[in-house]
Amino acid sequence: MDRFEIRGGARLSGRLTIKGSKNAALPLMAAALLTDEPVTLRDVPELADIANMRRLLDNLGVALQHSPASDPDAAGGVLRLHADPKANSHAHYDIVRTMRASVCALGPMLARRGEARVSLPGGCAIGERPVDLHLRGLRALGAEIEVDGGDIIAKVAIGSDGARRLTGARIFLGGPMGSTVLGTANVMSAATLARGTTIIECAACEPEIVDLAKLLTAMGAKISGAGSPRITIEGVAALGSADHRVLADRIEAGTYMCAAAITRGDLILENCPVDALMAHMDCLATMGVTMQYDLSGDPLRASCRVVADRRLSPVEVTTQPHPGFPTDLQAQLMAVLCLAEGRSVVTERIFGERFMHVAELTRMGAQLYRTGATVNVQGTERLQGTQVMASDLRASACLVLAGLAAEGTTIVNRVYHLDRGYERMEERLRLLGADIERISEQVPEVVNG
Ligand code: EPZ
Repeated sequence: MDRFEIRGGARLSGRLTIKGSKNAALPLMAAALLTDEPVTLRDVPELADIANMRRLLDNLGVALQHSPASDPDAAGGVLRLHADPKANSHAHYDIVRTMRASVCALGPMLARRGEARVSLPGGCAIGERPVDLHLRGLRALGAEIEVDGGDIIAKVAIGSDGARRLTGARIFLGGPMGSTVLGTANVMSAATLARGTTIIECAACEPEIVDLAKLLTAMGAKISGAGSPRITIEGVAALGSADHRVLADRIEAGTYMCAAAITRGDLILENCPVDALMAHMDCLATMGVTMQYDLSGDPLRASCRVVADRRLSPVEVTTQPHPGFPTDLQAQLMAVLCLAEGRSVVTERIFGERFMHVAELTRMGAQLYRTGATVNVQGTERLQGTQVMASDLRASACLVLAGLAAEGTTIVNRVYHLDRGYERMEERLRLLGADIERISEQVPEVVNG
């Protein structure tokens, strides 16, 4: 039940290294289930979700060696994963309920072991999150799937060659909101070991999918078109070992860009994936934020200076699948827009209910008017510090940003949501000049009778 206490008003300045990406690392870790050889991942961030995935994989027979980074400013640690294909293939509810991304173990396990049992993920604060597209894709590859007792039970029949292998297929993976990121990760991973060729149409184009395809290709998979809506996978009999550096976290980078914007700060972000953030950076530039970056090296690991030196201008933004504006930066941008001039309009097209932060920002004096999936943001001169409640990962980041700019003290409760996706956020903000501290509160143990 940790909380943050933030005394707002400080202008952030300094240098920060962006960590490896949570949303890239999770499916990359699950990909180790596809091979009997060791897989090494570098720049793995120290996050609650990564620890949960380690716990899940350990339970599924993956031997793990975890070497955290010795330098706190490094992009992340090293994780060595070595799966035993004969181990338990049941991902239990008590782990899956802590992290929906556990579902991305389903495809790799099914493809390598011919069977898998994964608890259906439960409800989520940001809205409905079915996995029907995942199941549609895996069924198209020949899996027999039923849902029973809250579990997805999947298996592959023994083929004429005596092997339990999936079979390549042409799959349209689009849903009502367009593509699915983890659905694409699941189906693409599974198709690497299928007989024949798979075409995924309406595949997610997210940079995390490109990073996963890079690892799978290094393991021996034959994949083309990752990053585009059509991915082609030619199945192979087996995959081998690989050593892969995790993509930098574009959502963490985008969040710190918003921190510079809302505090009229001056930050240099190292290991910054500017090439994966063009929609967000275009939006900030329209608002009046200056961003300078050097593209002579890897545009996914650039040095980017972010400066805001005046009250920002309003914008209209709609979240979309990549390369559109990312839903995972919607809440953080809304915090910035609360203090911009004029009226901004924010429309959420991916998770229509992803507005838990609206009521909390309103408690801080923000002028927000919601109709369905759209929020009109009337810019105001000031926000006022008060107690607010975090509800999900990105909403909590939004409240921290608002607290950095608010007058007085803001208390953000339940920051365990934040720890799922941001490494030591309060320490790193303090190094940039913020007046913020974590208050840890022991929850008294309730002893019946
Ligand atoms: C990934 O979730 C990310 N999580 C989310 O980030 C991110 O918000 C989301 O992609 C969209 O960018 C990870 O990578 C671990 P989707 P995912 O399947 O893959 C609907 C964060 O803050 N849909 O692309 O679960 C779904 O309801 C998290 O780090 C179906 O209808 O999202 C949604 O409206 C939060 N059926 C839309 O598609 C399906 O089978 C996109 O969801 C699957 C999805």
